[in-house]
Amino acid sequence: MLSDIYKYPLERSYLGSKYHVHYNKYHNGGGPYLIDTFLKDYNFPKLNSVMEFCSGPGFMGYYLMHKYNLPEVHLVDINPEVKPAIDLTNQENNWNGIFYLSDALESYDGPKVDFIITNPPHCTNLEEFNQCNNNKRNQKNILLDQDLSMHKKFANKLNKVLNKNGHLMLIENNIYIPADKLDILFGLKRVDYGDIDSALYYVMYENNLDI
Ligand SMILES: C[S@@+](CC[C@H](N)C(=O)[O-])C[C@H]1O[C@@H](n2cnc3c(N)ncnc32)[C@H](O)[C@@H]1O
Repeated sequence: MLSDIYKYPLERSYLGSKYHVHYNKYHNGGGPYLIDTFLKDYNFPKLNSVMEFCSGPGFMGYYLMHKYNLPEVHLVDINPEVKPAIDLTNQENNWNGIFYLSDALESYDGPKVDFIITNPPHCTNLEEFNQCNNNKRNQKNILLDQDLSMHKKFANKLNKVLNKNGHLMLIENNIYIPADKLDILFGLKRVDYGDIDSALYYVMYENNLDI
């Protein structure tokens, strides 16, 4: 519904923002909060291409594309309903956010990238989901990755989409998915790690695999 569409301003000043990411309020998984509280002050490694995985409306992907003056951003999500807002963001800003409808990376057919950022679902079973669920629409997509099955599929295909020496930044919940689980799952070199708030942390890996 059009009344559910909001605009997140990518730059804030007394003159307002020229650039906005459009989103359906049921598809906001926390991207604006993460940009405002964490990403804006983070020193990113050099990057020439970027993907937001589990993108929803693409807040963080568009943020990085804009910040680093990139020609495009690759946005991957399982929910086809995020596409109309992405189309609107592209149209209003004259941007190129390319959307891939995909379960994890199974149907991704875009190029390899230097940097992948993701804020995936953080609950790994129904008990955790019930603790987080606010009973609004789309909560299972936003919150639940049963038994980490999506994380596992993503990890298995990662080397096909992340350039050698490229970086993966995951934003996760430290109770449900602690970083040592991800170290094992991805098998990559951890290059950075830190808290975002009392529940969330980020971890960054470098793709040091030779395949
Ligand atoms: C926590 S939300 C993050 C949304 C957005 N990136 C943000 O930060 O606001 C998780 C996103 O993962 C997507 N998702 C869930 N399961 C997925 C899967 N198997 N493959 C791809 N995307 C998935 C959901 O549709 C949702 O958009």
